[in-house]
Amino acid sequence: MPKARLFRFECAYDVYGSGAPLVLVHGFPLDRSIWEPLRPHLEAYFRVIALDLPGFGESSVCDEKLTFDCMTQAVESIIQHFGESAYVAGHSMGGYVALALARRFPARVRGLGLVSTQALPDTPERKAARYASAAQAQEQGLGELAANMSARLSANPQHAPAIKELILRQRPITIAEALGAMAERPNSTPGLAGFHFPVSIVHGLEDVLIAPERSREMKAAIPHAALTEIPGVGHLPMLEAPEQTALALRALLVN
Ligand code: MLT
Repeated sequence: MPKARLFRFECAYDVYGSGAPLVLVHGFPLDRSIWEPLRPHLEAYFRVIALDLPGFGESSVCDEKLTFDCMTQAVESIIQHFGESAYVAGHSMGGYVALALARRFPARVRGLGLVSTQALPDTPERKAARYASAAQAQEQGLGELAANMSARLSANPQHAPAIKELILRQRPITIAEALGAMAERPNSTPGLAGFHFPVSIVHGLEDVLIAPERSREMKAAIPHAALTEIPGVGHLPMLEAPEQTALALRALLVN
């Protein structure tokens, strides 16, 4: 597995396929392995680069506290590592990062895939719950979070054991800091109307973590965006419906 010294961390990534570069940014509390089911459906179309964000998976922790700024610069620096610009697809928290990247470094973005994500910030209640989970992760480890989230991420209960293992492989400090970063993220809605590149939005209709309505709101703000809603699928379309998810990302090339 290749590694590169990028923005203040040692970045682990997978690279495969040929074509236009597509950077895949995983969600919380996961790592780049969640994208693996898309490989056979993307490799003939894109040069895919799936990275572990700072502190997640096999990447090292960031030299500084993990913030959205740090995650955004991490993605910007992997794009630069491979060229001038790339398509970027972000899942959930990775979508928050992709939205921040498009706002801050628009010249780096050829098109955006927004998978099970939202432009809205946290409500005060959600923020408070994040800080409570962050404290628990640091004091007691990831057992509770892994049990809770693995049951809710996929609409298919068969996925729960593997997701639980994936979550338990993460570092408690990274999980706690990422929860704080998500709690403090800004509202990305005002920037959406300025997206002039192709945008493809994907959401599972059984998602209990982020309501499908959040994707409909983004589509309304970006009229040229494509919206793919997938029945029977929860928060992990790349795992639960890889072919349809890949098809939606491939549509970025023709829009
Ligand atoms: C994710 O899947 O990245 C998170 O559940 C997003 C969130 O908690 O807002």
